Amino acid sequence: MSRMIAIEGPDGSGKSTLLLALAERLGQLGLAYETGRQPGGTVAGEAIRGILLDPKIPLDPISQVYLFMASRTAYLEERVRPAVAQGIMVLCDRLDLSTIFYQTVMMKHNLIERFGRTDAVTKQVMQFHRKVNEISRGSTDGIDVRYIIMDADDMVLDHRRPRAADDRFEAQGAEFQKDMRSFYRQYTGAHANNPNVLTVDSTDPIEALDLDRIIDWIYKEDVCPTKITA
Ligand code: TYD
Repeated sequence: MSRMIAIEGPDGSGKSTLLLALAERLGQLGLAYETGRQPGGTVAGEAIRGILLDPKIPLDPISQVYLFMASRTAYLEERVRPAVAQGIMVLCDRLDLSTIFYQTVMMKHNLIERFGRTDAVTKQVMQFHRKVNEISRGSTDGIDVRYIIMDADDMVLDHRRPRAADDRFEAQGAEFQKDMRSFYRQYTGAHANNPNVLTVDSTDPIEALDLDRIIDWIYKEDVCPTKITA
């Protein structure tokens, strides 16, 4: 049985490192897999990624949502659905949770910058959050997705974030990062008993993680809720 594994988490949580480590281990075990990333993963998706990450191209959060969705739809249709149908496991760096959390926080910060912290702004952000949630979650309809959510101590996350911010999202400040982390933490708190959500604490280096336990969870038919720490 194959499915899609989305690796999510705030900046610096080690998503790409875990993805590479899991892919290497799957290869060693002789299991079929594909890796991808969002935004990106297809010719169109990579072109869209260029626009989305370029801080020199002005782009409001609503337009960002639709571009992320275009990149995602192309990736799911061209790569993921066919791979899963052929029994290939798909590991993907980020998915719909990133859109829900990042674009909502972008909207929040944009509105606060323009209008201050008012009740009307809070209401508008909540409405936007609900809308993005609906749009973004709908994109994976019919695909069996399990989520690995990475997190680490704040000091470790701060230390791992790149010093030179060269994309639109890395260029956001500490307040933005704080909001992102709290969104992911609220999510893992709310989904602590969801068997399709695995929280991985990457405070310690990835080498300290038991990759085979994660791989067991990826393949297991009836999964048990788990939290993995080194
Ligand atoms: P990437 O270099 O892949 O970032 P990271 O190494 O942190 O995963 O760039 C993707 C950036 O795009 C990242 O800052 C998160 C952001 N993003 C969104 O804002 N919305 C989305 O839906 C997705 C998939 C990513």
